[in-house]
This record gives sequence, C-alpha cells and structure tokens, in this order.
Amino acid sequence: MTLFRSTILDIVGNPFRSDDPAGTLRADDDGGLVVTDGVIMARGPYARLRAEHPAEEIVDLTGGLLVPGFVDTHVHYPQVRAIGGLGMPLLDWLDRCALPEEARLADVAYAESVAEELMSCLVGAGTTTALVFGAHYATAMDSLFAASERTGLRVTSGLVVSDRILRPDLLTTPEQALAEGRVLVDRWHGRGNLRYAVTPRFSLSASEAMLHSCAELVGAAEGVFVTSHINENGAEVDQVASHFPARSHYLDTYDHHGLVGDRTVLAHNVHPTDHELEVMADRRSWVAHCPTSNAALGSGLFPFRRHDAYGVGVALGSDVGAGTGFSLIKEGLQAYFGQQLLGPDGLPLTPAHLLYLATRAGALALGLGDLVGDFAVGRRFDAVWLRPVPGSALDIVLRHAPDASEALAKVFALAAPADVAGVWVDGRQLTAGSPTSTRTRTALHTLTTTA
Ligand code: GUN
Ligand code: ZN
Repeated sequence: MTLFRSTILDIVGNPFRSDDPAGTLRADDDGGLVVTDGVIMARGPYARLRAEHPAEEIVDLTGGLLVPGFVDTHVHYPQVRAIGGLGMPLLDWLDRCALPEEARLADVAYAESVAEELMSCLVGAGTTTALVFGAHYATAMDSLFAASERTGLRVTSGLVVSDRILRPDLLTTPEQALAEGRVLVDRWHGRGNLRYAVTPRFSLSASEAMLHSCAELVGAAEGVFVTSHINENGAEVDQVASHFPARSHYLDTYDHHGLVGDRTVLAHNVHPTDHELEVMADRRSWVAHCPTSNAALGSGLFPFRRHDAYGVGVALGSDVGAGTGFSLIKEGLQAYFGQQLLGPDGLPLTPAHLLYLATRAGALALGLGDLVGDFAVGRRFDAVWLRPVPGSALDIVLRHAPDASEALAKVFALAAPADVAGVWVDGRQLTAGSPTSTRTRTALHTLTTTA
C-alpha cells in the first residue's frame, strides 16, 4: 500500500452536461490517494489518510499538480519522425511527409527504434493510455505491441490497411489484411493492457472489399476496436464522395460495412453533415478531435457546438505527426483557441472541459471508463505529476493561482512535456528513457519519505 500526497485534480462527470452534478472540477489542495496493487482504495485530505495509515509508504508529490494520466485517442506510431512538416494540406502532406516515412517501417530494426521513440514521447508527455494508429506492416505492429508491453502503457492499436490510392509499398489485399489481422489479434488482443483496433487508413484508400474484410476482423474477437479518419479536409471529402457514389456520406462508407458502433473512434470530423452527427450519436461512436493537426494542415475549425448539440462524444488526439507534438495539454489549449476563433459558433471551453477532454473523455471513448480517467475509488492509479521546471513561467505564475481552476488554466496555458515529472500506470511508475524520466527518478528519490 502506498499513500500519494499532492494537489490532486480530476473530473469524474461530464462538464458538457449542465445537469451532471459531477461535471465540475474536484480539487484537493493537500490531498491523498491510497493505492494498493495499482488500485485507488481511498481518496481524501492527506492529513486524514495519513492518520488512518500511519505506517504506509508515502510518495510526496507536493509542489505540483497530480492529474489522471492523459488519454491520446489518435496518435500515429510511424509518424514520430515526420512531425514538423508544415505548409501543406492533408493529401499533399500525406504524399510528401507521412507516407515516405511510413514506408521505412518495413524494416524491422527501423520500426523497433521508432516504437521505442513513441514510448518515450508518450510517457514524456504524461500519456498513459493511447489509441495508436498503427503501421502498414505486421512486423512493425509486433514491434509496437512489444514496446508498449515493456513500457507498461495502455495501448489499443492495429495494422493499418489500404488497397488503393497510396504508394504501392503501403498497399495490401483484403485477404492478406484479414489473415495478418487475425494473427495479430490472437497474439496481442487482451494481453495485459493491450487491445486490438481494426484500422482502415481512410475510406479513400480502401475498396469495398477491404472495408468488408475489416468488418470480418471485427467479428473475430470480442472487444476489438475500430478506428479511422473522417471528414478531415474538403478535397478528401469530395474524393471520397466520388469514389463511393452509392453512399450517402463519408460516415456511410464505414457504416455500410457495420464499422460504426460504440467501439469506433473516428479522427477529425471537421466537416460533418447533420445526418452523420445524428448517426454517430445514435451509435455512440466517438470523435478524436485533433486541434493542432487541424490547424497545421489548415483542415478547419472543429464544429464542437454541433457535436455537443447532437450528443456525439468527443475526446482529444495529438494526431502526431500532422499534430505538432505529444502533449494533450497543448491539444487542449489549441482546442480552446479553435472555439474562440469560431466566435458565436464556438463552444467556450473552461479548464474543467479541457481536463475532461484530455482524461475522462478519452477513457470513455476507449471503453476504459471503469478503469481509468479519474481518481475515483476503485480506479487504477494512472496518473501524471506536473511539477513546473524551476524558474519557468509556469513555476512563477502557479505560485499566484488563487484556486485549483486557475491553476489548471495556467497549466493549459503554459505546461509542456518538460513539466511532466512522473507518470504511473497501474500504480507503477513508468520510465521510457526520456530526459524527463531521469529528472523524475531523481526527484522522487529525493522526495519519497516514509513514516
Ligand atoms: N487521413 C489518412 N491518413 C492520415 C494521416 O496519416 N493523418 C491525417 N491527419 N489524416 C489522415
Ligand atoms: Zn490521423
């Protein structure tokens, strides 16, 4: 048993629902969490928990904020090294930046090193759970799952499949996609914290036969997810319409094959029709909102108010490498900016909304709401300790924050991966070889005390 002491912030309910009494920020200035075998057994004022557990080990995380581990619902494994390709719209960016790099993952050693880099970057940003958009090669997927298992992250991912439009070395056939998918599902789905996601790249690069084979793979195992892209860019949407003249809209290209359900997470949805929003709400599918990517590629401003009006669940994705980094704090800030820029059509987002989007919403999108996403008693202890770099602007302004909500606003304005001082999954501290982790280990060694 371990007693964690910190300023503890989380959000259990849904702040987008004004009738949800739990949809407000919970904050304990000097709080405690009792963790046994990775599970939160008690939460409350540190002094009370200390009195109740006088002999337990204490992990002292004062001098910063402890929040639930971040959940990234859309991050591309083979694009770690492609970050920073600016100045192009989606389809040009794919051809010139993303796809040439993705083809390099055919090489197993290359894929292994990218998988390790991804782990470092996710842990370094405080991400504990991710829906990772995979690679086009089954061998590279083995490398990703193995690295995720070693690191301890909760990862849902799968082989990316396409059979048209893309460069030939990224293409497969529906038969091969299904056969390789089955092997990967058998090997990795449900092993520890790993799960499988059937992943057609987008319907623009998939034939009807390929989408049908994806549906077959979904039927192959209980609890498999589906992820893809939708309605990201005007030219993309137009091309999908002309490739699928029999479908009523982009969502229908997936829905026709039974790929739209409550385990479906579709990235972007910047340009949805009302009918698509209606169907997504009805199926309880989720949208991965990727604000820095939408800005970097000029895809557009996310119609959050319309998603909210239809009741479509929205979580955050970094969309590395079109997105400009792994930090869900940065994505939260960019989400806020986007809504401000929409003026009266935007949905004003508070710090509580941003924390919800980066934690609880992602857990719900990935069907992990009973396990993670907040610090309720009974959840696994997945957490990130944000302790500002000494002397940084965040360090300075946080000292002047009058309350937790303002502290959180300052975190979303200023925090970066350099401020991630510790990351836990299932109560176990993660290290993935990043410089941040080194600082963390030192800090914890110094600060950890026992009674
Ligand atoms: N649509 C299809 N593939 C991709 C991708 O890699 N990134 C983004 N942002 N959109 C896509
Ligand atoms: Zn993407």
